[in-house]
Amino acid sequence: MSREQPGRFDGRVAVVTGAAAGIGRACAATLAAGAAHIIAVDRDERVNDPMTVPERLWSAVHGDLTLPATVEQLWHVADKAGRCAILINSVFAEERATLSNGTEAGWMHTFRVSTLTAVLLSQAFVDRADGDSAAIVNVASVHAFGARNGFAAYASAKAALLAFTRAAALEWGPRHVRVNAVAPGFVAVERNAHVWKDPHVREQLARANPLGRLGAPADVASAVAFLASDEASFITGAVLPVDGGLLAKLPEEPSP
Ligand SMILES: NC(=O)c1ccc[n+]([C@@H]2O[C@H](COP(=O)([O-])OP(=O)(O)OC[C@H]3O[C@@H](n4cnc5c(N)ncnc54)[C@H](O)[C@@H]3O)[C@@H](O)[C@H]2O)c1
Repeated sequence: MSREQPGRFDGRVAVVTGAAAGIGRACAATLAAGAAHIIAVDRDERVNDPMTVPERLWSAVHGDLTLPATVEQLWHVADKAGRCAILINSVFAEERATLSNGTEAGWMHTFRVSTLTAVLLSQAFVDRADGDSAAIVNVASVHAFGARNGFAAYASAKAALLAFTRAAALEWGPRHVRVNAVAPGFVAVERNAHVWKDPHVREQLARANPLGRLGAPADVASAVAFLASDEASFITGAVLPVDGGLLAKLPEEPSP
């Protein structure tokens, strides 16, 4: 799963949200392969299982990040591990509904989990961050750049996450905290297996981008690890699409 260079994050404490599954899990595994100590947070109890990561590099916090008790436990565990250097915000929620059918509760929950969690954790992180090499990476989405029916709340929350990324980069740059984002296209994870396991849908999804394949969690994790690393030491406020070129592509013109 991991393409990490050994020792790249040696001794750094990295908080990764949504680390039980999918992209968050891949980010955690990739940072751990570079010897970061992962504080893995998720409401899914699989967060307790380090899987391929050595146990000494894995501290799990099992809970819902919208609950103050989980956040308190997270910082308790992180502070015991050392000074925090990396924060990866990967949890999300979405209300799949048209604008006519979407509910206030659905929009609130989508923003609460997908945007506000990242804001609040980042604020707490900055006060703890290791001033020389601290980095926040927010996992946004191509939905922040283009609309698709049924995704209004999710897309709006991800666009807000990008606005937050830029504002935070500006304000926290002088404190040597870099803040960047990735914008994945379709990434095949267990949660959306019902979509990509259908060969016809899979082919259509693959054909939608110039590289002609679906994204894998490790594709996103590599980009996240780069932005979190010293190799990106002069990059802040940036958004890196990890989408096989989807955002670069205009629809084909009809041929006469
Ligand atoms: N998979 C894709 O196609 C894709 C595309 C673009 C962006 N993304 C983004 O990537 C990130 C990860 O998504 P994924 O596809 O890996 O999904 P996933 O469902 O595999 O992982 C999300 C994890 O977040 C956890 N989580 C959700 N709400 C939580 C909460 N309130 N408290 C604690 N944990 C919570 C879930 O339990 C889950 O383990 C999300 O921000 C998503 O918007 C995914």
